Amino acid sequence: MHDFLRALPKVELHLHIEGSLEPELMFVLAQRNGIELPYATVQEAKDAYHFSDLKGFLNLYFQGMNVLRHEEDFYDLAMDYFKRARGEGVVHIDMHFDPQAHLQRGVPLEVVMTGLLKAKQEAEDTLDLSIGMIMAFLRDRPAEEALHVLEQAAPYWKLLDAVGLDSAEQNNPPAKFVDVFQRAKQLGLVRVAHAGEEGPADYIKEALDLLGVQRIDHGVRCLENAEVVERLRSEQIVLTVCPLSNVSLKVVEELRDHPLPKLLEKGLKVTISSDDPAYFGGGMLTNHTACAEAFGWDEAVFRQITRNAIDEAFITETRRGELLNRLAAL
Ligand code: ADE
Ligand code: ZN
Repeated sequence: MHDFLRALPKVELHLHIEGSLEPELMFVLAQRNGIELPYATVQEAKDAYHFSDLKGFLNLYFQGMNVLRHEEDFYDLAMDYFKRARGEGVVHIDMHFDPQAHLQRGVPLEVVMTGLLKAKQEAEDTLDLSIGMIMAFLRDRPAEEALHVLEQAAPYWKLLDAVGLDSAEQNNPPAKFVDVFQRAKQLGLVRVAHAGEEGPADYIKEALDLLGVQRIDHGVRCLENAEVVERLRSEQIVLTVCPLSNVSLKVVEELRDHPLPKLLEKGLKVTISSDDPAYFGGGMLTNHTACAEAFGWDEAVFRQITRNAIDEAFITETRRGELLNRLAAL
C-alpha cells in the first residue's frame, strides 16, 4: 500500500505555504536575516509544536513566519516545500498564502508575490509540478483591511486562481466578508473558504450562500447538520479535508475517530490535504499512509479521492487530462 500511495499522483488543494516552513529552514532564514528565535535548537522548536486548539497553533504559525523578510525567503520557503512534496509523489498544489500576516510586519505584497511566483514558475518548468495561487484573508482581522489588500493586489489579480478565508474561525463568520467576496466575484476570481473546522456547520452554509465559494476548506463539522450534508452532496462541493491537522488541533481526539469515512459514506466529494505540514506531523504521503492505517481503505478509495482533487484543482484542462491519464495508468 505504501508504494501505491507514493506512486499515486497526489493533488493537494489545501496547503498554507507559510505552514510548510520546517524548523530547519526557519533557523537558516533567522540567521540569514539576523533574527533571534524563541527556540535554541530545531528540536526545541519541534517540541513546542503541541497544540490544544486552532488559536494555539496560529500563535506559533504567525511567530514562525517572522523569519520571512525578503523575496528570496519566500522563494526558498516555497521551493523547499515543492521539492519535498514532489518527492512524495505530489503533482499539483493549490497554495494558500496570507498577505496580511506579512504586511503587518512591514513586508510589502510585492516581496511576497515576487518570491512565491518565482518558485511557482520554477516548479512548473523543472519539477513537473503545477501550482495554484490562493490569496487568503485573515478572518480575525477587519473586513476593511481584507478589502484594501484585495485592491492592493491589482497587479496580481490575473495571476491568482482564487481568494480564500482562513485564521481563527470561531466568532468570525463568513458573513463578515460579504463585501470582500462580492468584490472578488466582480473581479472574476474564484472563491474558497475555511468553514466547519472549529466553527459550526452553519458557517459552511453561510460560506456557500453569502460568499459564493466553490469549495469548502475542512468542512468536517458539516455532519452536525443533515441539511448542510445534503447540500454538499447534491451540489458535489469539494471538501479539502486535512486529517492530521484535525488531530493536531484537537478537532478529533485521534485519527480513528475522524469523520472521513462517514463523509465518504454520505457521498461527499472528499479530498485529502496536509494544511500546515511542518506543524502537523507530515505532508501528503504521511496523511495518506495514516488514513490507510486508521481506516483500512483500499486502493479504490484513494483513487476516488485523487480523482476528486484532480477534478477540482486550479489547472488547465490539458493538465487535468494529463493527470487523469496518469491516475488511470497506475
Ligand atoms: N491558517 C493556517 N492553517 C490554518 C487552519 N488549519 N485553519 C485556519 N487558518 C489557518
Ligand atoms: Zn487551512
